[in-house]
Amino acid sequence: MSTDNLHRQSIPLDSRLRLCASFVREGTRLADVGTDHAYLPVYLACRGKILSAIACDVRQGPLNNAKSNIIRFGVENTVSTLLSDGLDEVDPNDACDIVMAGMGGELIAEIIGRTQWLYDSSRRLILQPMTRAGTLRSFLCASGFRIEQEKACISGGKCYSVMLCVYDGIIRECGHRFEYIGMLGEDDSHEAAAYTDMVKGKLSRKINGLLRSSKDDEAAYYQGIYDSIRSKV
Ligand SMILES: C[S@@+](CC[C@H](N)C(=O)[O-])C[C@H]1O[C@@H](n2cnc3c(N)ncnc32)[C@H](O)[C@@H]1O
Repeated sequence: MSTDNLHRQSIPLDSRLRLCASFVREGTRLADVGTDHAYLPVYLACRGKILSAIACDVRQGPLNNAKSNIIRFGVENTVSTLLSDGLDEVDPNDACDIVMAGMGGELIAEIIGRTQWLYDSSRRLILQPMTRAGTLRSFLCASGFRIEQEKACISGGKCYSVMLCVYDGIIRECGHRFEYIGMLGEDDSHEAAAYTDMVKGKLSRKINGLLRSSKDDEAAYYQGIYDSIRSKV
C-alpha cells in the first residue's frame, strides 16, 4: 500500500473505542489518557474531527507504539505524545475533551480526583472503565460530576459502558441501582440489556458464593441490590 493511501485511510477502531470517539466534540482539543497505541486520537485526526490531541501514557513503551501509528497515518500535525501519569503533565489549555478508556474505574476516579482543573463545566470527560464501574459512578456522584449520557457496547464478546460526564458541582445520592448499572437501566438497547445481564450474573454468582459460606446477611444485602436492578423504575 502506498503512503498516500495510508494517509487517506482511517485507522480501524473496535466498537468500544468507536463509542468513546462518538462522544468527542467536533473541533475539540483532546487528551487521551492511557492511550497505548493512540488508536482513538489517530482515528479522530484521520477523520478531521479534532483540532489537536495529546496521546498520554505513563509508560514509554506504549508511547513508542503511539508514535509509530501517528507517523504511519500521517497525523503528526494534529496528534502529539506525552509521558504523563494521568493528566499530571498535561497543559489544561490542551485538553477540552478528555478520554480515559481501558483502565480500571478506581484508577480513573483517582486521576480525576487529583486533577483540579477537571472540576470545570466546560470540559467533557469520556470514561470507559474496564473494572469497578460502580466505584467510578459513586465517585462521580459524590464529586459533583453529572453523567450526561451513558451507553453500552459489546466488543470481543464482552460488554462495556462508556460515560459522558460534565462537572456541575451538584453532589448526588448515587443509590445501588445507579452505582451498578448507571443510566443503562433506562436504556432499551440490546447492548444495555446485555450489560445489565452481565451485572446481574456477577451479583448472582456472588450471592450464591455467600450463601454457600453461610454468610446469609451479606447475601441478603446483595440480593436487595440484585432486586433493585431487576425492577424497572
Ligand atoms: C489497556 S490500555 C488501554 C488503551 C486504550 N486507551 C484503550 O482503551 O484501548 C491501558 C493503558 O493505560 C496506561 N496507564 C496505566 N496507568 C496510567 C496512568 N496512571 N496514567 C497514564 N496512563 C496509564 C497503560 O500504560 C496502558 O498503556
